[in-house]
Amino acid sequence: MSRAAALLEQVPTGDVFDRAAVRALFDLPRETLFARADAVRKDNMGDDVFLRGIVEFSNICANDCLYCGIRKSNHDVRRYRIDEEEILEVARRMEGWQQTTIVLQSGEVAADKEDERIERIIRRIKTETRLAVTMSAGNRPRDTYARWRAAGMDRYLLRFETSDPELFAFLHPDCDLEERIRCLQDLRSLGVQVGSGFMIGVPGETLDILADNILLCRDLDLDMIGIGPFIAHPDTPLVGQPNAYAGDSDMFFAAVSALRIVNPRAHIPATTAFDAIFPHAGRDLVLQRGANVFMPNATPGRFRKNYMLYPDKPCVDEDDHQCSGCAAARIWSIGRVIGQGPGHSIKVR
Ligand code: 5AD
Ligand code: FES
Repeated sequence: MSRAAALLEQVPTGDVFDRAAVRALFDLPRETLFARADAVRKDNMGDDVFLRGIVEFSNICANDCLYCGIRKSNHDVRRYRIDEEEILEVARRMEGWQQTTIVLQSGEVAADKEDERIERIIRRIKTETRLAVTMSAGNRPRDTYARWRAAGMDRYLLRFETSDPELFAFLHPDCDLEERIRCLQDLRSLGVQVGSGFMIGVPGETLDILADNILLCRDLDLDMIGIGPFIAHPDTPLVGQPNAYAGDSDMFFAAVSALRIVNPRAHIPATTAFDAIFPHAGRDLVLQRGANVFMPNATPGRFRKNYMLYPDKPCVDEDDHQCSGCAAARIWSIGRVIGQGPGHSIKVR
């Protein structure tokens, strides 16, 4: 029996894995790996799928990440910032759709005024609705995180993108991996539930790096982990670059399954980029191969085409109520149920 198969026979605890053991997971027959991940998901997280509507409230960004469609050097993007009242309206609508968390995502700006505006929006959502608030607005000073936390922020999403420091530096002219990890640690120390993750198959990624990405998620003891395939955007320096796993798109699902096996008690979303690669089916398959969270797009329709991080992003012609209904239907169609309650981290600290 192979080493990975032997490990799969034991009760999976993330701690038994090292780089070689994670890599060995990728050598298993794919159906075996997928089924194992689905069983680990069911044992640890149950059949609930939590809905977390994402509002892309601003595409203004001061950074130039090589892969990202809203990088500051992309002058073809029409920049927008959704005003406070409209964000509050979306939040109130979400409550009516069984959604218990709002995710507020934007580009990264170093602007005190915007930090204050966000603080005010968090406070209003926490007093005027019962939603949990997840922020995703990049690297910020600890002080900003502290103020948002005091305003009621429950969680934060900030992917480390790749665990390889050199590859990270190549992809991010504006920051380094150490700084990114420092942000995650600041958030943890403030009592915020921490989400991170990475892209699968950025140019230059090796299987060792992929295995290390999965292990770094475990070592950071993340509450939520979002991963999705890299897709080259035509208006970025990575135009035309193939995904490192081009030709074996099952590797994207294998990455999620391995992630679940190594991180049994983390919330893992079925991310939108899977639907870009497998239209209408990608996210459903991810939910059956390790994931337990779905993040419907809750951005008002007229802004969506200006938040194209990668091409073929789905749901661009829809509006928030359509994505919410569609998500529920997809969850029911695979025999799962919508999670009730806030869907906080199940990790006890
Ligand atoms: N392909 C896939 N994912 C991307 N992201 C940004 N650009 C791309 C791309 N070209 C992901 C990053 C970021 C998240 C919000 O979107 O991982 O953290
Ligand atoms: Fe906006 Fe990377 S391009 S944070």
